[in-house]
Amino acid sequence: MKNFSSIDALLLFLFLLICHACTPPSVEKENANTTDIEAKVDALLAQMSPEEKVGQLALRGRSSREKGALPESLLERVRRGQIGAFLNVMDTSHMRALQRVAVEEGPHGIPLLFARDVIHGFKTIFPIPLGQAASWNPELVETGSRVAALEASSVGIRWTFAPMLDLCQDSRWGRIAESPGEDPYLASQLASAYIRGFQGSDLRQPTTMAACAKHFLAYGAAIGGRDYNTAVLSEELLYNLYLPPFRTAVDQGVSTVMTSFNEVNGVPATGNQKILTDILRDQLGFDGFVVSDWNSLTEMIAHGFARDAKRAAELAARAGLDMEMTSQAYDDFLLDLIAEGLVPESQLDFYVRNILRTKFRLGLFERPYVPADHPGTFYAPDHLEAAKTAVVESSVLLKNEGLLPLAPGTKVFLTGPLAHQGREQLGTWTFDGEGDRTRTPHDALPEATFVEGLSYSRDRDRGQFAQVLAAARRADVIVFVGGEEAILSGEAHSRGKLRLPGIQEDLLSELIQLDKPIALVLMAGRPINVSDYLSDLDALLMMWHPGTMGGPALREMLYGEAEPSGRLPVSWPRAAGQLPYFYNHKSTGRPANPEKFVGIEDIPVGAWQSSLGNESHYLDLGYTPLFPFGYGLSYGEVQYGPLEVSDTVLVEGQSLELRVTLTNTGARSTTEVVQLYARDRFGRVTRPVRELKRFQKVTLPPGERQTLRFTVTMDDFKYYDSEGQYGVESGTIDLFVGSDCTRAEGRSIDIR
Ligand code: BGC
Repeated sequence: MKNFSSIDALLLFLFLLICHACTPPSVEKENANTTDIEAKVDALLAQMSPEEKVGQLALRGRSSREKGALPESLLERVRRGQIGAFLNVMDTSHMRALQRVAVEEGPHGIPLLFARDVIHGFKTIFPIPLGQAASWNPELVETGSRVAALEASSVGIRWTFAPMLDLCQDSRWGRIAESPGEDPYLASQLASAYIRGFQGSDLRQPTTMAACAKHFLAYGAAIGGRDYNTAVLSEELLYNLYLPPFRTAVDQGVSTVMTSFNEVNGVPATGNQKILTDILRDQLGFDGFVVSDWNSLTEMIAHGFARDAKRAAELAARAGLDMEMTSQAYDDFLLDLIAEGLVPESQLDFYVRNILRTKFRLGLFERPYVPADHPGTFYAPDHLEAAKTAVVESSVLLKNEGLLPLAPGTKVFLTGPLAHQGREQLGTWTFDGEGDRTRTPHDALPEATFVEGLSYSRDRDRGQFAQVLAAARRADVIVFVGGEEAILSGEAHSRGKLRLPGIQEDLLSELIQLDKPIALVLMAGRPINVSDYLSDLDALLMMWHPGTMGGPALREMLYGEAEPSGRLPVSWPRAAGQLPYFYNHKSTGRPANPEKFVGIEDIPVGAWQSSLGNESHYLDLGYTPLFPFGYGLSYGEVQYGPLEVSDTVLVEGQSLELRVTLTNTGARSTTEVVQLYARDRFGRVTRPVRELKRFQKVTLPPGERQTLRFTVTMDDFKYYDSEGQYGVESGTIDLFVGSDCTRAEGRSIDIR
């Protein structure tokens, strides 16, 4: 081995000196902070007993409904350093008391971290995440999570279990409501935005929250959309589809990651070394901490993966799980497992380091309590305004036969089970949202005649039908606000049929028979099957679960003061039988096409046994969704010019500029989401028929022409194959630009 000579040392010193001189002050400060934090972590770790180390790995739950004094036994556990973090402590005096004991009486004054599911707002509730994804506006998503962080951190919550980054191709899955949709590029853009919003630019500020990218990995790939179900993934799917949003989250500096409940290719995520260590730590370079999902560690027993809790703890500890949520297998067994040589002690130190590092980064050691001058105010006017804008930008106009916007003075009849249900329009995961602070459509449209008709989405009582019909007859326009109650989507709330629950369709059909203009406004956690009566509707507006400001936003959209500018972040199926469905599918050897399509009614009676159209489709549902990914109407008219490219050849190290000119040919200002898709014609593994590569949301005043530019490089077309190889080969890429994934203008470029 070569000896390190004094000349080497001198050269090294000079090199370091030059590096130091060249480092910009901000990077220098960052490096100093990092070194400082690492030194503090090491110093603390050196003083901690093994029991105290295991204590940092424990995340203990309280029920938000628990009232009364804190049990002394719990305080004692904190005093002994046996708990690292809490979730759902919502009594601020309890929070303060627990923190005081940890900081002032605990062995090393290590602060607790308080967590909560602040998913799409704390008090001021924004649209559900699937709705926010429909905004195709990362800035808006960033503002929403900033507002959530401001409000939640004002009561001491410094860790949120969001964003959920599980792509979903199946609207039966209840948690599609929390998903960023079906596309990895859109989801990645939103992932960055959520994290910027929650964590801010300086995590030490007491107005930020550590974010948690969840659920790692492929929770949305649950078979049949049945929650918690198995995910079977090829390497290609894992790396090209499910991983990218998490990769972006890590690059954006997400503080924590949560494991998923499901197994991935036979191994439950919570005990999956490949995903928790090989991918997350080694490939993505994550240096925060990983938390299990609620009891997901001990659920490895039910999975049939661990024979008992001790083995589950061993598997998780070896796989790379830092913190255990609610179950207590680490508490009970980790030290024994270390003593028995089944888990290396260094692994425990590694976990504690990751957790302490995060607590230091949050500034909790310097400021463990909420400062008296914390600026977070619930329902601040600018929070409400931002929430209203978010609803407008998330709402997707799916059909409009000239009905909207309504002329001033139109006599509106408002009805439907979601028209005046404050709590329900908030949607899933809104523990802290308040129904009585929510502005419903009825609140916002006091001049409209109102008969609810059905008092909740599953209501089967026809008692108000006659009254509804009588009032509807006297109106110019019927606005039916229907959908799903909040509880019908979200965790464990998968549905097999996607039609409107209860007898909403019966009421709708009676209203349709009146032959009055009718708008169906949907508030739901997922696309709803409206295929049978879509042609009878004059307008269809999807508002998802819009949150606190749904009513005022609807009012503005109905009267054209605002224009719904959402676009679908998921394909909208014709019926549940089409699921899973996603736009970025493969071609197959017999791709569906209109010339060869054979519908069920086209088959002659007694037809000879044959495969008829010979292509990949359903006889009774065809091969297209009801509305494609990226789809949404506006109140304006925009014309796209041809797609221009700066060159038709792309080589490594260079970029291409793509340009498209849009013209607002209508009479009002309008917003367009311009989408750029690519198709790689041939690959070393087959490639999707379309993949979203870029998008821009632009507002054009009437008559305005605007040229949009997109820059692409070779990296935009690289992908992983089944051997884990990353790259793109020479060949032709078709590029399309347009207002959804189907209506697209094309050009081709060659990769060399
Ligand atoms: C959910 C997580 C959530 C956790 C804590 C689990 O049931 O899957 O998404 O963060 O509970 O509430």
